Amino acid sequence: MLEKIKLYASEINEAVATDQEEIESFRLKFIGKNNVINDLFEEFKLVPKELKKELGLELNKLKNQAQFKLKELSDSLSSTPSTAEMDVTLPGISGTEGSIHPISQTKSRIIEIFERQGFNVESGPEIDNDWNNFTALNFPKNHPARNMQDTYFVEREPDVLLRTHTSNVQIRLMSERKPPIRSIMPGRVYRNEVISARAHCFFHQVEGLAVGKNISFSDLKNTLYHFSKEMFGKSTQIRFRPSYFPFTEPSAEMDIRCFICGGVGCKICKHTGWVEIAGSGMVDPNVFENCKIDPSKYSGFAFGMGIERITMLKHQIDDLRLFSENDIRFLKQF
Ligand code: PHE
Repeated sequence: MLEKIKLYASEINEAVATDQEEIESFRLKFIGKNNVINDLFEEFKLVPKELKKELGLELNKLKNQAQFKLKELSDSLSSTPSTAEMDVTLPGISGTEGSIHPISQTKSRIIEIFERQGFNVESGPEIDNDWNNFTALNFPKNHPARNMQDTYFVEREPDVLLRTHTSNVQIRLMSERKPPIRSIMPGRVYRNEVISARAHCFFHQVEGLAVGKNISFSDLKNTLYHFSKEMFGKSTQIRFRPSYFPFTEPSAEMDIRCFICGGVGCKICKHTGWVEIAGSGMVDPNVFENCKIDPSKYSGFAFGMGIERITMLKHQIDDLRLFSENDIRFLKQF
């Protein structure tokens, strides 16, 4: 008898109904006048005394289960209106849709532009050692950037730190691969700064690196010129200003003509008519040597730019903190 109860229990459990007829046949079998559970109650009368308690309990459970299931089946059917009673011309109810973060949008656009110039996308770790972030990049031993004020150290001796720029990937690529290299490296970087509208303790950069034979400064200029036109518009003008980075020689900063005021001078360009977009230069021979690449055979250029900065310029956002606050009122504008 217990066998039969179990069999019916699983049948009830698995029962499904797609129309009224199926519900009715379920009702007839398990609940109607001559239902199978009643038959079991008949049989129950003949069961020996010592089994009565257990079987009685099971039988009552089965009966409740059948009733519960019947309700469930008819509820599920009535909640799906048939096409006859459904107005298919009513506008649908749309769910709330997320959007892509403005930083990710800018990053994707930058990647797209450089990919079309033959660069591939590489990545590296955000936690790295002093060698990849500083020493191999030709930072002198007492360079201020290594100071505790700028760098988050994870461990001291040997130094493990949160990378302060994506240039650590340059070193990793050049040490692990043979030229030609033509890569961009987007990623998050960290600096120990007081958080304000203009500075944050983390932000995003895209670094670019090209290493090969006869690569010259004009290749660098052309690459960044093409990028600027694609990113900021066809009539964008650029200029290079001499600068200094330990890992490039010569080094230059690239500015674009302020596209807000057209160069006349405004708040965004601090009345200079130009806005700074990228740091760049020719890979320093010392860096090549640190990566076991022969500087007499190969040359290369590198550049780096801030994704937040470009996004702020494009959308005229004046507070860096908005990017990491997850305020939906801000995010939904993009
Ligand atoms: N790593 C530099 C920075 O964080 C940017 C840069 C990259 C400059 C490559 C020159 C070449 O400011």
